[in-house]
Amino acid sequence: MSDYPKVEIREGLVSIIVPDLSKYIVGNRPEPAHAPVFYNPRMEVNRSLSIAIINGYVNYTGKSNIIICEPLSGTGVRAIRYAREINGVSKVISNDISERAYELIRMNIDRNGLSDIINVHKDDANNLLLRIAREGGCDVIDIDPFGSPQPFIENSLRAIRDQGLLCVTATDVGVLSGKYPIKCVRRYGALPQKFPYRFEVGIRILISTVARYALSMDYGIRPLMSFLDGHYYRVCMLVFKDRAYALETLRNIGYSYYRPSTLQRGFISGYPIPGVNRYRLSGPLWIGNLWDAEFLMNYFMKGTRDYFSSRAREVAGLIGEEALGPNIPYALTTEVGRDLGRELPINDVISIIRGLGYQAVRSHFHVKGFRTNADLLRIKEIIMGK
Ligand SMILES: C[S@@+](CC[C@H](N)C(=O)[O-])C[C@H]1O[C@@H](n2cnc3c(N)ncnc32)[C@H](O)[C@@H]1O
Repeated sequence: MSDYPKVEIREGLVSIIVPDLSKYIVGNRPEPAHAPVFYNPRMEVNRSLSIAIINGYVNYTGKSNIIICEPLSGTGVRAIRYAREINGVSKVISNDISERAYELIRMNIDRNGLSDIINVHKDDANNLLLRIAREGGCDVIDIDPFGSPQPFIENSLRAIRDQGLLCVTATDVGVLSGKYPIKCVRRYGALPQKFPYRFEVGIRILISTVARYALSMDYGIRPLMSFLDGHYYRVCMLVFKDRAYALETLRNIGYSYYRPSTLQRGFISGYPIPGVNRYRLSGPLWIGNLWDAEFLMNYFMKGTRDYFSSRAREVAGLIGEEALGPNIPYALTTEVGRDLGRELPINDVISIIRGLGYQAVRSHFHVKGFRTNADLLRIKEIIMGK
């Protein structure tokens, strides 16, 4: 066993050994990427919400004996939590290319007495996924890489079964949300824009990238849950290995427009060439729903647990509310209150809009973000007292 400082931690219902992050400080903060094996305690939110989503998925589809694959496992914390905390799991496949990670995963599995449920591999993730595809596939695939999931999407789609659940994390939020537009074009084949709702543009580009890989294979996708939490995006989607569903998916790819003069924003369908060019466009991107509201209300929420961190439960609540709002990009209070000369509390904006009979909900993408079907210029005029 490699020799480096380690500590025992508890997360969810498991206890695992991880590198002692207090020995890997950069600036004045622990830097998980500098440790011999990657463990980021902040990603508990991602892992806990994934447990709620996968448990919800099991109930939603009525599947039993599911096989879950995590090709980039790090310490194994996620795979181990899935084996312990998800109902109806028959097998979890855990994998990492790093020797040290592989050793640690094996040790953590033994400590938790889960060696008959979890199979461990030390392979390149793409090799593993291709092997799984040849051997009959699996029901859930969780791609949680450093940076972009792009290199693993295509083979995940090969390895997943029909109506399986594909979950991806992307930590390159800056690239997807317009900080490095050319890099986004290279990596995702889509142009982001620094629209006020650029964090929503980013997650929609991520979804449409998966959708376009799926389309090329005659598959379709449907997001069940999507969110941004600080430094990463997370999307969990159903994959349909069905040509008819691929056509449905194609209808959900298009562009987003934004007009600063009227505050108008929205979507234009028509991939690969949109019909209108009056606006600045961003895309191609996903223009369909980011959430399946029925899944969230009836399955995901029931899958959240008291022992999740308060942040995980908070994100779950925010998304549950936001999913009931209209599928129109979020707006910022600063857009409708720019000339007011003072900060406009978001709850005031929401009350004004609701008072006029329109929908308005907060958006988790931004502290000043809200989603409404009202005409924003009209709202701005009302707020300015015109
Ligand atoms: C962000 S960490 C995974 C964290 C883990 N999923 C969790 O929830 O704690 C990414 C992991 O991918 C592994 N990795 C990087 N490239 C890989 C590849 N091509 N195949 C398999 N593993 C790889 C790294 O060694 C690292 O442990």
